[in-house]
Amino acid sequence: MDFELTADQKALRAKSRELARGSFAARAAEIDRTEQYPWGNVKELVEAGFFGMTIPKRYGGQGRSYLDTVLVIDEMAQVCGPSGRIVVEANMGAIGAIMAYGSEDQKKLAAGLVLSGDKPAICITEPGAGSAATEMTTRADKRGNVYVVNGMKHWITGGGVSRLHLIFARVFENGQEQGIGGFIAIRDETKGLIIGKREPAMGLRGIPETQILFQDMEITPDRMVIPPRGLRKGFADLMDAYNSQRVGAGTVALGLAQGAYDLALDYSQKREQFGRPIAEFQGLHWMMADMSIQLAAARLLIQRAAASAAHSPGGFPDVAMAAQAKVFASEMAIRVTNDALQVWGAAGYSRNNPLERYVRDARMFAIAGGTAQILRTLVASRILNRKLPQTRDGYVKRGGDA
Ligand code: FAD
Ligand code: COA
Repeated sequence: MDFELTADQKALRAKSRELARGSFAARAAEIDRTEQYPWGNVKELVEAGFFGMTIPKRYGGQGRSYLDTVLVIDEMAQVCGPSGRIVVEANMGAIGAIMAYGSEDQKKLAAGLVLSGDKPAICITEPGAGSAATEMTTRADKRGNVYVVNGMKHWITGGGVSRLHLIFARVFENGQEQGIGGFIAIRDETKGLIIGKREPAMGLRGIPETQILFQDMEITPDRMVIPPRGLRKGFADLMDAYNSQRVGAGTVALGLAQGAYDLALDYSQKREQFGRPIAEFQGLHWMMADMSIQLAAARLLIQRAAASAAHSPGGFPDVAMAAQAKVFASEMAIRVTNDALQVWGAAGYSRNNPLERYVRDARMFAIAGGTAQILRTLVASRILNRKLPQTRDGYVKRGGDA
């Protein structure tokens, strides 16, 4: 595959770099300190056309590719992790699933919200179903002409700021389970959608992570997103769409690592010890070289995964390439942000320095969106071309009879 960027992609990257390094860089520390959702950045992202880039032109978007999108995310995350994540969710994940599988009305509704600055929330994880997402207990029971949804999700990015929600739930008709479907609900419109407590997160503090409760939330069938192969394969198809978000999350990790590396490279040439810049020492040469190698490898994996969408039947990134890219980029970002802080010595350990924020922000990506362990199992299952069930026969719970 050829990752030579087109003139249009280079222009897109230049435009996002200008925005990122201007007002976004100036606000990043404040966003982290105040833990406030950056509505000012959202306004500028909408004006720049970075919300709904992947939405087809006939719904008001730009019909851009995932490769285009990761170029923008990379630039945003180099200065501000939360802004990078906002661009992910404004172009991938929930909006991707709705634009691929939704009815005309659903597409128009979702496109309208996103293009006017709403970053959708995707609601999969529950307290008892994290990695084991297929064990979710949130259920939608068909009663007369509506689905009645009950359950609870947690760690939902954008809880309380997002309006559009795509909620994964088990669907029941006449008491019989039909499979897992996606339901569209709008905060402040859909009765029974309740925003719960906010998590005091370690990093990426500009976006709330909250519980979301569904209490007899009534959803009409026209708000159910039915994946192409029906509810029985609903979870699989929804996860196929979710692969784009995994590439996006990996890109935020990459951007954070790049931003930290740039700070370290600059400082290493300015800070003097033993009568010379610390960049003159071989110990530093090898650290900086290792960082640059890891960044280049991650960027290639990310761009390869994003570009794979153009060749896949569903139009989403390849599942294994997305997982490989996210595992590598997320673990790389933990190492590189830490090494960059090391280059700064004590100055890097100060809260007046952005590096401690980069370290905290980068820590998340090996956890959310499928942990590094779960994604390795996914890659292995694709290498071996068979399912690798994590529910082992014969396991007996201590003190129980399960
Ligand atoms: P667990 O599943 O309890 O795992 C705990 C540990 O056990 C991990 O290290 C894991 O790798 C390991 N483990 C578990 N099972 C296996 C196995 N079979 N083999 C090997 N190791 C295993 N969810 C949403 O739905 N929407 C969101 O918007 C969202 N945003 C998030 C934002 C943040 C900042 C965070 C931290 C999480 C977010 N999540 C979201 C939830 C996230 O997807 C889950 O945290 C993740 O899937 C892991 O689930 P868990 O935290 O319950 O960990
Ligand atoms: N892309 C496409 N299809 C996927 C997929 C992906 N990323 N992940 C799973 N699937 C499909 C499987 O191929 C399988 O399809 P099948 O029914 O045709 O066999 C189906 O979904 C169920 O997957 P399986 O691996 O059998 O599920 P499981 O019960 O063992 O659960 C997962 C494992 C999928 C939940 C686990 O691998 C996972 O991804 N956990 C993390 C959840 C997550 O990312 N949450 C983020 C919330 S923001």
